[in-house]
Amino acid sequence: MALDTSALNRQRFNLDHLDDVWLFGYGSLIYKVDFPYLEQRVAYIEGWSRRFWQGSHDHRGTPEAPGRVVTLVEAPGETCLGVAYRVSPRTFEYLDHREKNGYLRFFVPMWFSEQESGEGLVYIASPDNAAFLGPAPLDDMAAQIARSHGPSGPNADYLFKLASALTELGAQDEHVAELARQVEDILLA
Ligand code: SIN
Repeated sequence: MALDTSALNRQRFNLDHLDDVWLFGYGSLIYKVDFPYLEQRVAYIEGWSRRFWQGSHDHRGTPEAPGRVVTLVEAPGETCLGVAYRVSPRTFEYLDHREKNGYLRFFVPMWFSEQESGEGLVYIASPDNAAFLGPAPLDDMAAQIARSHGPSGPNADYLFKLASALTELGAQDEHVAELARQVEDILLA
């Protein structure tokens, strides 16, 4: 799959007939909300886990020295807490550009509570994208995040901002929390 997925995303679904669309954010879309939205709600999706398995060539690293950012991996029985935004379909012109480094949009069911659900789009970087890095020992991932920088800033800032946003939401995410502890230790050493 191409390194820049924005053209693929434009062709993927025609959203023009819709007045609004739910977007589920689980990574930087939780804490860096630089797009207009009509409504914002805490939400979760089922069967997915957040993992720092996606390479970042354009925001938190470079093509020569990629950083690590989150994607979702299939995890039956798990839930992933995030933030849902009701947006105008036009907002995807910007979002597709922001998420162009390997992410494709998928429709998923999302839950606002046990009784209330909706359908929305989520950006997932799947293993067949050119920037995918996949799993690695946690201390190797922490070392990579601690040393990586890109046009959007240090990779560690992405991790720390996500970890504190998840704490504020009340999410239990041991993968993110443990990486944040290890990167903090490396940077303080
Ligand atoms: C998301 O936040 O939902 C996608 C991944 C990212 O931009 O960090």
